[in-house]
Amino acid sequence: MSLRWKIFSLYLIILIISLALTGLYLYRYIERSYLDNVRVNNLMQANMVSNFVSRFVGTTSSYLIEPTIMEYAKQINSRILFTNINGRVLVDSASSKEFEGKVIKDYSDIKEALNGKGSTSIHDINGVGWAMYTAVPVIAKNNVVGAILISSSIDNIIDLLNSIKYRMIYTFTGIGFLVSLLSLLVASYITNPLKRLTEATNILSQGKLDYKVEVKSNDEIGKLANAFNKMSFSLMKIDEERKRFVSDASHELKTPLASVKALIESLINSKNQDIKFYKEILKDVDGELNRMTRLVNDLLELARMDKIKAVKVRKSEISEIILDVIESLLPLAKTKEINLEFKGENNVFAEVDPDRFYRMVYNIVENGIKYTHDGGNVIVGLEEDENNIYLTIADNGMGISEETLPKIFDRFTRGDTARSKKSGGFGLGLAIAKEIIDIHEGKVTVESKVGEGTVFRITLPKKKKD
Ligand SMILES: Nc1ncnc2c1ncn2[C@@H]1O[C@H](COP(=O)(O)OP(=O)(O)OP(=O)(O)O)[C@@H](O)[C@H]1O
Ligand SMILES: [Mg+2]
Repeated sequence: MSLRWKIFSLYLIILIISLALTGLYLYRYIERSYLDNVRVNNLMQANMVSNFVSRFVGTTSSYLIEPTIMEYAKQINSRILFTNINGRVLVDSASSKEFEGKVIKDYSDIKEALNGKGSTSIHDINGVGWAMYTAVPVIAKNNVVGAILISSSIDNIIDLLNSIKYRMIYTFTGIGFLVSLLSLLVASYITNPLKRLTEATNILSQGKLDYKVEVKSNDEIGKLANAFNKMSFSLMKIDEERKRFVSDASHELKTPLASVKALIESLINSKNQDIKFYKEILKDVDGELNRMTRLVNDLLELARMDKIKAVKVRKSEISEIILDVIESLLPLAKTKEINLEFKGENNVFAEVDPDRFYRMVYNIVENGIKYTHDGGNVIVGLEEDENNIYLTIADNGMGISEETLPKIFDRFTRGDTARSKKSGGFGLGLAIAKEIIDIHEGKVTVESKVGEGTVFRITLPKKKKD
């Protein structure tokens, strides 16, 4: 069952129950008030007759009883019976005098009256209609000497109550229809945005990643739609990044492959060259293959880090690792007569993945050497406090232009192409370094000025948070 129908049925059930209960209560209340009114009225009349009768019963004026009862019954348009203490009817105001002489002490109301209590009851008399019986005792000298029973028609009240009942049923059914129509509208109003969100999710799963839903409300559904739009936006970004990455990576592989192919073709086409020529060409092929191997290794490293997002750390001596990096890069620095130096604290320890940490420092220091003119400086600094280690790698080299600086950590970002081609990088070194810093939950900032130099500042927590 759809949400719309669920909400609708729930509304309907609540509505039916509340209308039925309200209707029943109201009807009972009205019925009781009307009948109580008649009851009180009849009791008053019965008491009046009883008072009158009790004054004359057993006196010389008792002959007045019958005509007075007859007259009064006519006036109030009811039938009045007067019985003695044994329940024998002495006066019946009906013209048929049907009950005179009969004993009616088994009538429940008469029984009550002869016991000294007034009582009323309602009867559906076959062929006549609805009547209310009201019986009260006749008391003379503190003794019950008989009973008065008034029987009055309440057909008009029963008719009125019936008409109220039907009117209530019609009104409540009308209200019921109207409210269920409204609840259907409300249910649609609530569920329509959800329907649109479901459609949007389907469109998204078919690959239209930048699809947006328009839900303007500020409620939970509106928030869900906003979250959906944010999700589709980041999916699109991730997809764009992935596409660019694949195209950049294939482009990078295509160039050395084309070179290798050209070199090998020149080998195939050459005739009777001396061995030196072949060696020369094979050396170039080897160079291109090394380049490809390096690219594939870098890509694999990035892919692996994308997957793990967490490192296995162990307490490592940071200053030692930095010295190892410097040692392995000294020969490169020497070829450019660059002064590569460590100017930091020793015996600094932190929980890192030592191989990855080495790789990160290596990539940044290598850049410092690659992008600094001959005779320049590359200085590595290290400080610590209670919680963090602070690593700086500063050079006085070419610097990075303002437009490249924000993209420096993106994959395949290279500065000036001519410069990069000469140095032969792929633009992956800093992307890898950044990933390594990220998985160690650290931070990195760069300051650079073209022609003056560059400083990388890295902060890593000594202990990884769990
Ligand atoms: N210390 C630096 N001084 C000047 N430019 C730099 C420095 N470090 C990085 N860059 C610029 O940033 C770009 C990206 O650096 P990155 O290390 O990611 O790639 P790469 O060195 O070109 O290639 P790879 O490291 O993959 O061999 C470089 O091409 C270079 O233009
Ligand atoms: Mg590099």
